[in-house]
Amino acid sequence: MKELIDVDAYIERLCVPRNKVFEQALRDAAKAGLPEIHVSPNEGKLLYVLAKVSGAQRILEIGLLGGYSAMWLASALADGGKLLTLELEEKHAQVARKNLLRAGLLTKVEIRVGDACGLLEDIVRRGEPPFDLVFIDADKPSYPVYLDYALQLTRPGSVILADNVIRRALDEDDSDPMVRGIKEFNEKLAACSELEAILVPIMRKGIDGLAIALRR
Ligand code: SAH
Ligand code: DHB
Ligand code: MG
Repeated sequence: MKELIDVDAYIERLCVPRNKVFEQALRDAAKAGLPEIHVSPNEGKLLYVLAKVSGAQRILEIGLLGGYSAMWLASALADGGKLLTLELEEKHAQVARKNLLRAGLLTKVEIRVGDACGLLEDIVRRGEPPFDLVFIDADKPSYPVYLDYALQLTRPGSVILADNVIRRALDEDDSDPMVRGIKEFNEKLAACSELEAILVPIMRKGIDGLAIALRR
């Protein structure tokens, strides 16, 4: 595992310039007692590059936490672009709002607080315009349901991303609903005739991964 940490540190040193506002966001989230399960700086940069490459103007995030991944995604948006992000916990949303405000990004971001399934159902029912990119990173047992919503809320050419798709997929304990959720998500993603997908390993302390899928 030491080599993985070295690789991650090497990439971060080269490709993620120090940014005081992003680093403060992580410190404030930890100080507020939020779990330290945000994407790593390198994965954040990867989200940013993917959002830019895809030219996304409308991004949907499921699972905001303290706003760290949202900061990367929102900073990839061109003027007029918008990130809608869904979060269950009001406390997490409060921390994220402060972090996004300090970064000058809050004007590009809309935060909706509640259970993502209900909020996604509202978006479908209201017939809001499709998203160019969806990033799934909330509760793992619901990943298969989030994939169904992502398919309903995107268009051909849209990108669907999901965090944490490798570590639990290698776990043999199928009695764990998180393990089952991730395995079912990956199988659905790979089998979906509407998607061209790949799982990319992401290394930090251990190994996990990001799913990247393009809608045909
Ligand atoms: N994307 C964030 C990390 C998200 S952690 C980052 O990288 O910075 C997962 C988040 O999903 C937590 O904040 C948790 O409160 C939220 N969450 C869990 N279950 C949820 C649900 N049912 N609906 C919406 N959000 C949920
Ligand atoms: C964990 C990591 C994550 O990125 C996440 O979204 C949820 C949980 C974890 O390491 O437990
Ligand atoms: Mg995650």
